[in-house]
Amino acid sequence: MDPQEMGKFGVAILGSLALVVICNFVGSEVVQVQYPERPAYQVAGMNGPDVDLAGLRRSWPQALASDADRAKLLGYMHNMPRTISASLAVEGGAPAALAEETLPDFASAIPSADRAAGELVAERCAQCHDWSKGGPNRIGPNLFGLIGRPRAAHEGFNYSTAMQSKGGTWTYDEIFRYLRSPARYIPGNKMAFAGVPHASDRLNLIAFMRSWADAPAALPAPTASGHR
Ligand code: HEC
Repeated sequence: MDPQEMGKFGVAILGSLALVVICNFVGSEVVQVQYPERPAYQVAGMNGPDVDLAGLRRSWPQALASDADRAKLLGYMHNMPRTISASLAVEGGAPAALAEETLPDFASAIPSADRAAGELVAERCAQCHDWSKGGPNRIGPNLFGLIGRPRAAHEGFNYSTAMQSKGGTWTYDEIFRYLRSPARYIPGNKMAFAGVPHASDRLNLIAFMRSWADAPAALPAPTASGHR
């Protein structure tokens, strides 16, 4: 190739690069992208205003370029519902453990819990569960008579292997622990629900749950440390 021809190639390459730059410039001037300032939906457990979703989306590819953006990205990931992080976890890595929680003394905590508040918490379950006597299985099994019922035992429901192989009975403390974070307590179970983080909400819910039976399930004996 003679020098003159190489020159032509050089001009052609530089010319195309210049064209790309120009198109890019004109394109971004002509099309002004409007990013929503508020997320279109709320992810359960995510503290909305703390995380600037729009900003995050704008800077996504470069999100790791500065410390502030890195912190933003981590904040966002931290707030993703546990179930989503669990299903994204590679190589079956279990989601990180939660700090230990002391079990309440159900014998005293359940009678003093707020059943009406528990009924409101139960609205979150109603999209997947029916708890009327003889009611159907829906996305999740019917929960009538849950307290004291063996795990994965409701007729006609196709439980996950994880739920079946855990075994045992739905005692007060098993329900209390499972509902805090279903994905952590029984890894691999298929209840796509992030959990009820606050202990008081779970106690209220369980107090309401006692009405899902012909007669409320007996309370456990008071625990020695539970006397107040
Ligand atoms: C998005 C749907 C969904 C929501 C919401 C949901 N569940 Fe579930 N639940 C399921 C599914 C599916 C299963 C079966 C899990 C398996 O087999 O791994 C299940 C299983 C259960 C079980 C085990 C039942 C058994 O027979 O062993 C309990 C207890 C339970 N759910 C309670 C609740 C409560 C209480 C709430 C509300 C705070 C709730 N669930 C919200 C879908 C849901």
